[in-house]
Amino acid sequence: MNTLTTYDGTIERTLYRDDEIAAAIERLGGDIARDFSGQPLLLLGVLKGALYVVTDLARAIAAHPNGPSETVVDYMCVSSYGNATRSSGEVRLLKDTSETVTGRNVVIVEDIVDNGLTLEYLHALMAERNPASLRSCVLFDKPYHRKVDVPVEYVGLICPDAFVVGYGLDYQELFRNLPYLAELQPWVFAA
Ligand code: IMP
Repeated sequence: MNTLTTYDGTIERTLYRDDEIAAAIERLGGDIARDFSGQPLLLLGVLKGALYVVTDLARAIAAHPNGPSETVVDYMCVSSYGNATRSSGEVRLLKDTSETVTGRNVVIVEDIVDNGLTLEYLHALMAERNPASLRSCVLFDKPYHRKVDVPVEYVGLICPDAFVVGYGLDYQELFRNLPYLAELQPWVFAA
């Protein structure tokens, strides 16, 4: 349980502004729209972290002419075990997909990839269901501590080697609603 009552004084620095994030999503949307031109697409957002990225990405795809023949958005909800700032890759599936994955072109949409274990778990889970194609899109990549070589076809922005919050990413369920990506003041982790 976090005892913070306000975000005031908690932010050490902004890493990516909201307009920089929007530009990255615009680029990802263009890449995905071109790759799935004329084909049906299933975007699978991983909650809670991909809360904003999947909705903005779906609209960025729609903004491109000659994109997918249809874009369906679905969600799964997971929680990763680990300590406060690093996942162990042990994932608890809280909500499975509502859509059938078999035979579909699936793009898993994640907020961030760090050691890669969470995405590897999700990729394996979806691959078992025999999609027509399976790719992954992450908004933020922290490539410094990868434990597994999980394929990520679409990468938005490279993140510094730090625990980050905002634009869907949380610390103890807080800070998800910051419109930018930020690093927290060290004292917050001790609060
Ligand atoms: P991985 O299993 O280490 O690749 O981590 C993936 C998951 O851990 C992400 O989906 C996030 O939920 C969480 N995570 C990793 N790094 C951060 C961070 O810097 N801030 C907030 N959550 C993070």
